[in-house]
Amino acid sequence: MQKKVGIIGAMEIELNQLKSILQDKKETETAGMTFFEGTVSGCPVVLVRSGIGKVNAALCAQLLALKFGVTHVINTGIAGAMAHGLKVLDFVVSSDALYHDMDATGFGYKPTQIPQMECSDFRADPALIEAARNAFGRTGDSASHKMLLGRVASGDQFISDRALKEKIRSICDPACVEMEGAAIAHACYLNKIPFVIIRCMSDMADDGEETSYTFNEQTAAALSATLVIKMLDTVK
Ligand code: ADE
Repeated sequence: MQKKVGIIGAMEIELNQLKSILQDKKETETAGMTFFEGTVSGCPVVLVRSGIGKVNAALCAQLLALKFGVTHVINTGIAGAMAHGLKVLDFVVSSDALYHDMDATGFGYKPTQIPQMECSDFRADPALIEAARNAFGRTGDSASHKMLLGRVASGDQFISDRALKEKIRSICDPACVEMEGAAIAHACYLNKIPFVIIRCMSDMADDGEETSYTFNEQTAAALSATLVIKMLDTVK
């Protein structure tokens, strides 16, 4: 079956590289989002900026599934580093994704557990993970930066506080935090679409990282998108 890869970035800077090399472009507006269909490296894709946060991200992934019939989803962008040893401009490829801010513990559920759902921790697709690792090995970045396979924790919160970072670590021990990945993973799980999240670290999710974030967001976003472009060589 011909693959069609939905590629979601929350912000424009997370999609710029991909958009600049998109061929045979066709634009569709839906739900306040612009979907760009075409090909990148010969692979059929739909590029879209979801907007920030879990609801925007889930709506976007659902539209990719229902309206555009994508067979795979890749979420590209930036994140705050959580795993020990992970630094700014290192990469995380998702093993799984969950919501660090899902809390129904008052009803006896575990932190992050979604009430009345059989799955709260959405597993990324092994073939897409492999494509990401393979692509990373083919970039110049692998000499100076590392790529970690690990958990992505999402929430409607920008994490810039040491105590909060430690609290999230104690709840679910993620490799990185961001604001969309798990919602995309959740929609993909419900629609039975394989997904992966690729994130390049813009900050340490720590005290004072607004400065680090501002300084690194463009570079990190571009590095992540460049990696996705390399992935598409092997995904198609
Ligand atoms: N995206 C990039 N850095 C982040 C952080 N520290 N918290 C949430 N989302 C992010």
